[in-house]
Amino acid sequence: MNKVKLFIPGPTYVHPSVLEKMGTPMIGHRTPEASELQKNISMKMRELMFTESNKIVLSTSSGTGLMEGAIRSATQKRAIVFSVGAFGKRWHELAVLNGIEADLHEEESGQPTMPETVDRYLKTGKYDTVTITHNETSTGIMNPIEAIADVIRKYPKVVWLVDCVSSLGGSKIEVDRLGIDVCITSSQKALALPPGMAIASVSAKAEERFQKNGHRGYYLDFLTLCEYIDKKNYQYTCTPSLSHMFALDFQLDRIMKEGIENRFIRHIEMAEHVINWASHFFKVYPAPGFESLTVTTIANTRNIDISALNKELVQKDMIIANGYGELKNKTFRIGHMGDLTLEDVTLLTDTIESILKLK
Ligand SMILES: Cc1ncc(COP(=O)(O)O)c(C=O)c1O
Repeated sequence: MNKVKLFIPGPTYVHPSVLEKMGTPMIGHRTPEASELQKNISMKMRELMFTESNKIVLSTSSGTGLMEGAIRSATQKRAIVFSVGAFGKRWHELAVLNGIEADLHEEESGQPTMPETVDRYLKTGKYDTVTITHNETSTGIMNPIEAIADVIRKYPKVVWLVDCVSSLGGSKIEVDRLGIDVCITSSQKALALPPGMAIASVSAKAEERFQKNGHRGYYLDFLTLCEYIDKKNYQYTCTPSLSHMFALDFQLDRIMKEGIENRFIRHIEMAEHVINWASHFFKVYPAPGFESLTVTTIANTRNIDISALNKELVQKDMIIANGYGELKNKTFRIGHMGDLTLEDVTLLTDTIESILKLK
């Protein structure tokens, strides 16, 4: 049994009781029990995503699957992709590879997407779809989603897709109040489940757009995914990972038991601890005021050997992540999301201090 606790920004630590639920005996995926399971998950996800009536779509894929399906099903005219790192840029690759017309706006590394920039593009009237990364796991930026929502609200015909893959379940994303049309997350991040399932909320406006565009693709077609909820009473297009569904249903009960707001507070406390620690001994990579609440990207100002540090950490049953892509060795990342606690992250930072003999 692997005892190493994951402080990487996904997959994250999974509680043993949740892992156990993955082993629930199978049921048929076309049975009333399967409908009931998917319906229960949907009701609880709505609560966690602060949406009254948006549809909850499940996908037996990782989050990228739903990102691909969403940009393809939603874009009628042209999409504008705002990127603050590798995962933001992925939306653009997905669009291009699917023959969807899209433009990319990239920020200087470490800088957030600002509402004025979004306004500048939408004002042109060229775009009917916009994508934002709420929490960019490579650069450790949490974008100012409230201020961006204020801008997007001025353009009611635009369909707004948000990547909340590494934040949903750890920080508050009020889908209805913000007006997010498609809000996407993955199981292996702040929801603290094994990887292999993605979840999205879909607004009535987004669904109307899918209907106008008609079916696009098969497995990841949002129109089909939505139709199966209405016409087939909360069922999934193909054979879903029922194991993930059992575990997700159970994990959502655990989240409700902890209290959604308490869970957000726990994430804020962990983030504050890691950000303060990193600011003291190194430097936090993202621009001040835009630090993520679920993952801290730390500039490697001491030029430490990150793989050597990780080898020593593993001896103590912990592991962190190197920087992503171009930021490898220039930065390293500490994930503080899901079911980790302030005690866990404090033990981690204390251990790093003692390994590196930081003063
Ligand atoms: C911000 C962000 N978006 C998208 C993805 C892609 O998600 P997945 O690996 O679940 O496909 C990731 C994965 O790390 C991510 O961190």
